[in-house]
This record gives sequence, structure tokens and C-alpha cells, in this order.
Amino acid sequence: MNRIEQLKTERDGLSIGPDLSGMVVAGLSALTEDDIDRLKWWGIFLRKQTPGHFMLRVRIPRGVVNAAQLRALGEISQRYGRNLADLTTRQQLQLRWIRLQDIPGILERLRAVGLVTLQTGMDNVRNIIGCPAFGLTSGELFDASGVAQAFNDLLVGNAEFSNLPRKFNVAISGCREHCTHAETQDVALVPALRYVDGWALQGFNLLVGGKLGSGGYRVATPLDVFVPPGEAARLCAAIALVFRDYGPREARNKARLSFLLEAEGEAWLRAAVEERLGYGLARAGVDQRSGKTTDHVGIFRQRQPGLNYLGLAVPVGRISGEELTALAALASDYGSGEVRFTTDQNLLLPNVPDTRLDALLKEPLLKVFRYDPPGILRGLVSCTGIEFCNLAVIETKTRALQIAQQLAATVPASKQLRMHWSGCPASCGNHTVADIGLLGTKTRLKGKVVDAVDIFVGGASGPAAAPGIRLLERVPCSELPQVLQGLVGHMDVNKLRRQLRALQGDGVSEAD
Ligand code: HEM
Ligand code: SF4
Repeated sequence: MNRIEQLKTERDGLSIGPDLSGMVVAGLSALTEDDIDRLKWWGIFLRKQTPGHFMLRVRIPRGVVNAAQLRALGEISQRYGRNLADLTTRQQLQLRWIRLQDIPGILERLRAVGLVTLQTGMDNVRNIIGCPAFGLTSGELFDASGVAQAFNDLLVGNAEFSNLPRKFNVAISGCREHCTHAETQDVALVPALRYVDGWALQGFNLLVGGKLGSGGYRVATPLDVFVPPGEAARLCAAIALVFRDYGPREARNKARLSFLLEAEGEAWLRAAVEERLGYGLARAGVDQRSGKTTDHVGIFRQRQPGLNYLGLAVPVGRISGEELTALAALASDYGSGEVRFTTDQNLLLPNVPDTRLDALLKEPLLKVFRYDPPGILRGLVSCTGIEFCNLAVIETKTRALQIAQQLAATVPASKQLRMHWSGCPASCGNHTVADIGLLGTKTRLKGKVVDAVDIFVGGASGPAAAPGIRLLERVPCSELPQVLQGLVGHMDVNKLRRQLRALQGDGVSEAD
């Protein structure tokens, strides 16, 4: 049994919450290794890069926050977290530099506005992601946000779900277009229509066993299941519990749902889920995913007449506490108080009336978070990197931004490219789903060990999802501006993707 399995057997991670006040009294030096790991069930992460300080990961289902929540997040960041926060690729928010003694008060402040940090780390169902433009965009078949919320409500704080073999990632979307990279998830519900007696029923098809990470990108497999929205949350719960009871637990790097699926097969998994639910599942409906990927950056008409949503690019997801507070004010003044975070580490400002658009566009914050950034910057995503992550091989966020800004000076603004950076093979920056993915590594240059990247190209999401292909290895970061300029300048992503896929059999290597 590995150490984490042992730890979970001795005591469930979720039960650590009531110990927090005692921990504060005893002080940081009294925390055991087990305490530090169990705190991750509560979204509290002691970070080596900020000695004596914690990162708090706030759970934000589908990335939706209201003005009161934004104000609380801004205030906490300014008062306790050195005015710094990060939007993440699971539509969450991470606060930094938090001291142990401040955590109980912060959690209380969050709870008062309806936010929790629970189950955002370790062997839990992580934040449920989904299209952030739900209810607004005409691209969706139906609004699936209620299903995501229902599953979230079932599992948060529920010890039935807190001892999984490993993390469990879920995406739920009723949109035909792709912004969440659903195919990378352990469970993805994607829009589908099932025809019964000439009637078209709206619902989801089920994909299972997707994953990214050091073992590589495994594209989720369709399980030949259709589920109506009303039963979908219970279906997700049943899969999570089958994973809990039958998933492999020996080696942590082989403990995701995909390994259970590979070992037992699709028919077994389907039957096991049916047994847990106590009823048979319908066969898959007609897949409604289109080939279109979207990033929601720009100004868009909503389905509701006279209203618009703005997609604003937040460079590499870094946002200050002051900006969070200013955003709350903007959302209240011009919209409905709501803001939504995207899986590209950007944000949406919905429900802006036509009559208020001009004034909103003149606000200073819209010069920082632009609805019309250069094409190179709008799809820029980066994991944390060495600044705050001790697993990182290289620095990512600052470098990603600098290089993208350099490229933006020469590449036409209309050229849109999704560039994703991961600082190590854990792949938290999802580099294998991007047009250009950069994975941190090291190389030797003139006898010195220097930061470098492997460059991946042509990752795709949607019905034809496929990992990016490793095109170049160990490119020194100092040479990246020139290398990327050459690549980006001549790159027709779709053409390159087709050519490389055709060549794959001839020795072009897949993503690791
Ligand atoms: C060996 C496996 C992995 C390890 C050890 C690992 C480690 C970490 C660490 C340390 C952080 C937080 C860094 C910080 O900001 O302080 C992080 C964040 C994150 N990781 Fe990973 N990671 C792993 C695999 C993955 C995979 C496969 C994904 C899927 C793409 C992923 C997605 C994320 C995301 C989205 C975040 C940001 C927080 C969130 O919203 O959940 N990680 N990871
Ligand atoms: S990819 Fe590596 S460096 Fe980046 S956050 Fe994940 S573990 Fe840290």
C-alpha cells in the first residue's frame, strides 16, 4: 500500500477540518507530514516555494462567481495573500502567501459568501468544469449548468466521495463548441440527441477515461451511453463510486479511471455503473459536438435580446486582489454582478445591456483585460511553474507572457493560436491540447544547463480530439522567440495537424 493509501485508511482527509483551530494554536512547526497532506482535502496546500505559507484553492463550479464572492476573494487576496491570485484551467482561483493563523478566518469569510475550498486537491472529484457561456450562447444545445451544480452539491463535503484511488476530473457541457477540452477528463458529458418514436430528446453522451499528465494524453472513450439531464448527476456519482470501489490503488501513477477502463473494458464498466444505479442505461444518442473550438474572447450577443457577454483575456491567468475587487464593481455596475472564469484562465462578463457597452469599453480595467487582445495572447495558458510549484523544471508564467508579447509585435493580430505551457510532465497547463504546447525541460548550451522546452503542435479537442505531436525537443528558452516566430509565422495549424498525423506512422512521436 502506498503512503497516501495508508493515510486515507487511517483517517479520511475530509475529517481534518475541525482540527484546523488546534493546528493554529500548535503552530506551523507542529504540523506532521500527514497533516500537511490531509489539509489538501480542504484545499489548503503548504508550498515549498513560499516557506511557511499556504496556497488556497477555491472551488468554483463552472467558474461562476457573483459580485459578493469576487469582493471577498479580492479582499482576502489583498489582506492576507500579497495581492496575488491565479485563475486556473479548472475555472478555479488560487490564493497565495496565506499564513496558517489566517486560514480559519479566511474559510469563514468564504463560507459566508457561499464559497468553499473543499476537495480541490488529492483523491477527490475536482472542480466540475463546463462551458462558461452556458445560458448565454446560441452555440449550446441546452444549458447544462444545473447538472454540474447538482453533481457538485452531491459530492462536496460528502465522505462517500473523499477516498477515491486518485483525482477524478469531470466536465459537463451542453454546448456544441469546445472550450473545456472535455476529452481530457475522467468523465465528460457532451451534448447529444436521442430519437425515440420520432421525438428528439436532449441529453448527454458519456465519455470516460480521459486523462493528461506524465503518462500522456488519453482521449476519453465513448461508453455508448445516453443520459437525460435529470439523471446525469446521479450517473456521474455512480461512476465515481465504481471508481472508488474497483479502481487500482497500488501505484499512484496508474490509479486514474483510465487504468480501470483499460484493465476491465468498456462493457464491464457500463455494467458496473448500471448495477450501482439499479437500472439499465440507454445506448448513446447522436453526438452533437461540432468541430468548432471557441475561446469566448471578444464581445458576443447573448440569446437574451439586448444583452451581451464580454470575454476578457487575463494574461496567463494572473490577477491581483485589487483587480478582483474592481471586477466585482464592473460586474455590478454594467452587468448582473456575475463573472465567469474560463478553462483558458480568462473571464466572462455577462449580461451587459447594449446601452452600457460603450461606457464599459472605456473602463481602465478593460485596457488590462482586453476583449480584443492580439491573437497570440488570447489563447495563452500557463501552469504555475517554478515561482510557486516545487515540481517545476522551469519558470513558466512570466516567460510565457514575455515571449507571447514579443511574438505579438511581429505576428499579425488576427492570427489566433492557442499556446499552452506546462512546467513539467505533470501537464497542469494542458500543453498537449494546444495548437502550440510547451513543456519545460533542461538542455545544455555552451556547457551550461539551461531552461528549455519540448514543443508540441496540433493538439485538438472535440469529436476528433488528438494529442499534440512533439515536433521539437530541448529548445533552449533563450532561442524560443526566434524558433516560435518561424513556426508561428508559417503555421497553418490545421494543415500541419493533417500532415503530421499522416506522417505519424513514419516515426513522428506522439505526445509522451
Ligand atoms: C503527477 C501528477 C501531477 C502533479 C504532481 C501535479 C501537481 C500540481 C501542483 C503542485 C499544482 C499547484 C501548483 C501551484 O499553483 O501551487 C497543480 C495545479 C494544477 N494541476 Fe496538477 N499535477 C499533476 C497532474 C495534473 C494533471 C494530469 C492535470 C490535468 C490537466 C493537472 C491539472 C492541474 C490544474 C488544473 C491545476 C490548477 C489548479 C486547479 O484548478 O485544479 N495536474 N498540479
Ligand atoms: S505542470 Fe508541473 S510545474 Fe506546472 S503546476 Fe503542474 S506540477 Fe507544477
